[in-house]
Amino acid sequence: MKKIIIAIDGHSSCGKSTMAKQLAKEIGYVYVDTGAMYRAVTLFALRNGLFPDDGIKEEELKAAIEAGKIEISFRFNSETGRPDTYLNGEKVEDEIRQMEVSNRVSPIAALPFVRTLLTEQQQAMGREKGIVMDGRDIGTAVFPQAEMKVFVTATARVRAQRRYDELMKKAKTQAERNALNFEEILKNVKERDYIDSHREVAPLRQAEDALVLDNSNMTREEQSAWLLKRYKEIVG
Ligand code: DC
Repeated sequence: MKKIIIAIDGHSSCGKSTMAKQLAKEIGYVYVDTGAMYRAVTLFALRNGLFPDDGIKEEELKAAIEAGKIEISFRFNSETGRPDTYLNGEKVEDEIRQMEVSNRVSPIAALPFVRTLLTEQQQAMGREKGIVMDGRDIGTAVFPQAEMKVFVTATARVRAQRRYDELMKKAKTQAERNALNFEEILKNVKERDYIDSHREVAPLRQAEDALVLDNSNMTREEQSAWLLKRYKEIVG
């Protein structure tokens, strides 16, 4: 069967990654979470003190990128059946999902030199096709020629609830659970929507030829079945 590129874009916390991973597994494709790449750059910036008083030390971040000091890769984890994100050889899958990173990632993702670097890496990953890539600009900027494009969305409240549940499940102590605040998460979801869709370079928008999936009232199984059906229609 011919191999294609599947681009899955949409708002934050709408379950794109879960759907994309599941589809990749079912059809034997490579899965790439591009949000994890922007998160890894953000983690690098946090660890290196590049966020002074609400700003970003852009020149220093740019210099680090140019000097090849930020190397992001994915390695398949046979225990979870999913790829883990590595930053300079260190597994950072958990660190990049923390609120500290979530709160800072949108301004990092708006920097043109960060987007250029990551877009080039993503295009290289898709050269052989047979890939499911999720993000914000995959169908519009990274692979405008992708054979299958899906734009996923759900209401901000539904998405904030999903993120809250996910963080609650991951929290290891009662103190971590107590620190979770639904309103704060909802605010973060809305802020990210705004920044992601209003930035100058590759803003989040629906590609004209994308299939739209509003999953506010769908179960995971329904979404997976929907995606698989569309894929089969496209590859024939
Ligand atoms: O999907 P996510 O929440 O892990 O994405 C993290 C951030 O990265 C989000 O604020 C948008 C940004 N992003 C982007 O600008 N372009 C992509 N292709 C993927 C993510």
